[in-house]
Amino acid sequence: MSFEVIDLTEFTGSEVRVGVDELLKPETGKALRKLLVERGVLVLRGMNLSDEQQVHLAGNIGDVRDEGKDGVFKVTLDKRENSRAEYLKGSFLWHMDGTHDQIPVFASLLSGRKLSQDGGQTMFANSYAAYEALSEEMKRKIDGLRAVHSLQVSMSRAGVEATEENRTIWSMTPDRTHKLVWKHGNGRKSLVIGCHASHVEGTDRQEGEALIQELIEWTTQPRFVYVHEWTPGDLLIWDNTGVLHRVEPYPLDSGRMMHRTTLLGEEAFA
Ligand code: OGA
Ligand code: MN
Repeated sequence: MSFEVIDLTEFTGSEVRVGVDELLKPETGKALRKLLVERGVLVLRGMNLSDEQQVHLAGNIGDVRDEGKDGVFKVTLDKRENSRAEYLKGSFLWHMDGTHDQIPVFASLLSGRKLSQDGGQTMFANSYAAYEALSEEMKRKIDGLRAVHSLQVSMSRAGVEATEENRTIWSMTPDRTHKLVWKHGNGRKSLVIGCHASHVEGTDRQEGEALIQELIEWTTQPRFVYVHEWTPGDLLIWDNTGVLHRVEPYPLDSGRMMHRTTLLGEEAFA
């Protein structure tokens, strides 16, 4: 292989060491994709890629989603840069991206352009490994159960104010139900949970909420988690279909700026 791989924890996160020229070759993209699906998160330190290079790399790994400007969406709490910045407070809680779609996004590439002095660490929890390690009793209990995913619930849990304007915007994204256990085409199973998972369909509401909370706590135990301490120019890639993620809260005025390129989903929840 034309790059060096160093596993960062047992279940998730591998650092990839590679030069920029090598990184941008099509065959490197293919190899990274395979590693990404195996390891959940790839970490490339201090790459300092330009937006064009980031989008080029993304296109070698999958199909770039039309988001932001020329495939680059600015992840920042700065309202001058992103009018919906306050919704990003939802990312302070454990979540998956795109549970309001039937086919969630496959993966995202996130590069650190300006870091926060405080907070801002991005964390990932491997929900394939967490599912695998559940007791047989719990696996039987959750098999076939479906959770309701709600934007309104995730925003309320994140403390975003339910102003009339916000409620109108949120109501345009209808609730969706997905099985708690996602049986992927490749035979692997992961958990579909996060702050957006409101309750369990057909189950007492509080009991369902408690079950989801229990599964989130299980999945986000330190043994399934990789925490990324950013250094300038780092690039992270995560497989959204098999890891939950969150960012440690950072001040609204920290200036933190990340550039994200997202890859279209390829597999529906099932
Ligand atoms: C995201 C996200 C985390 C971060 O872009 O989907 O959750 O560290 N970002 O900014
Ligand atoms: Mn996210």
